[in-house]
Amino acid sequence: MLSKKMEKALNDQVNAEFYSGYLYLSMAAYLEEIDYPGFAQWMNVQAKEEQDHGMKLYNYIITRGGKVTLEAIEAPQTEWDGVEAIFQHVLEHEQLVTSLINNLVDLAIEEKDHATNQFLQWYVAEQVEEEENAMENLGKIKRGNNSSDILFMLDAEFGARTYNPQI
Ligand code: FEO
Repeated sequence: MLSKKMEKALNDQVNAEFYSGYLYLSMAAYLEEIDYPGFAQWMNVQAKEEQDHGMKLYNYIITRGGKVTLEAIEAPQTEWDGVEAIFQHVLEHEQLVTSLINNLVDLAIEEKDHATNQFLQWYVAEQVEEEENAMENLGKIKRGNNSSDILFMLDAEFGARTYNPQI
């Protein structure tokens, strides 16, 4: 059984994960608009994974006998200043999500909810990967120094990303 406090915090994270999906989908739309279909594909896959992260929490709340309460999803940003600014934003957003996950783990420990703490460890590991990928991607783009040839090449590389369901 989840405490009411834990249930509310997990529901907030469902919203945060769906918001992340919405943000990355908005980034995908912007990247299509500025003619980078490969980066847009990468971002679309990222959006789908965030949807999975939200659903994994959704399912967990139900498994523990809790109530899923879906709240309004905030409208995401729609404009950026090019590809580098987008991937900088991805890194900052993932760092923010890591802090949200850490707060959830802190709460699970405080509530002595060992099952939720164990469940959240998947997200702890996932955030290490998310931040690592975001840093690596930003590094590649920065090294290109806004050269259109390099961005064209990276667009093709990022476009090869495929979606693997996470739940
Ligand atoms: Fe759900 Fe990108 O972390």
